[in-house]
Amino acid sequence: MNIRKAVMSDVDTIYHLIDIYAKEGKLLERTHASIYENLQSLYVVTVEQEIVGVAGLHILGKNLAEIRSLVVAPEHAGKGIGKQLVNHIMKETAKLEIEQLLSLTYQVEFFKRCGFTIVEKETMPQKVWKDCINCPKFPACDETAMVVYVPQHELVKVVNG
Ligand SMILES: CC(C)(COP(=O)(O)OP(=O)(O)OC[C@H]1O[C@@H](n2cnc3c(N)ncnc32)[C@H](O)[C@@H]1OP(=O)(O)O)[C@@H](O)C(=O)NCCC(=O)NCCS
Repeated sequence: MNIRKAVMSDVDTIYHLIDIYAKEGKLLERTHASIYENLQSLYVVTVEQEIVGVAGLHILGKNLAEIRSLVVAPEHAGKGIGKQLVNHIMKETAKLEIEQLLSLTYQVEFFKRCGFTIVEKETMPQKVWKDCINCPKFPACDETAMVVYVPQHELVKVVNG
């Protein structure tokens, strides 16, 4: 298993992986255009060169980032790939010197296993909701807001050797 930054030739596969779950209403759909625009913030997991997972890291403000579009291919679910991807995103968050990582999710148990805790949506800054206007569920959002504190020094030491 390898985790690397996404590149242009990954876009179709990323689109299809997200689309599988977006159709089930589990996460927001992404257009090809939005994947192109956000390519620099997307990571893919590969197993024997095949992309089996995706996650995005979106900076919301000075000390807050959001993990977005997290998916693991159905045939690879339950093998620890999602958790490793979240750990990778946490390390990337630490490298950026950002301390708080947010998820807006239906997968509360999964994110609890990854160290996140539930926060009241109302306590999150306004900028979190900037893109919600484009969501088909707006304004009746039923996702749970969860946050993890990303320890800076330990992770940066690990990541940067
Ligand atoms: C959520 C998702 C990314 C999890 O990926 P995964 O690779 O199957 O998860 P992992 O195998 O890494 O699981 C890590 C831990 O979470 C637990 N877990 C995973 N999914 C769970 C679920 N739906 N309910 C309860 N626990 C769950 C696992 O049992 C495991 O627990 P452990 O650490 O005690 O062993 C994947 O199921 C998925 O792509 N779901 C659809 C898209 C989606 O909802 N994405 C989240 C958008 S915010």
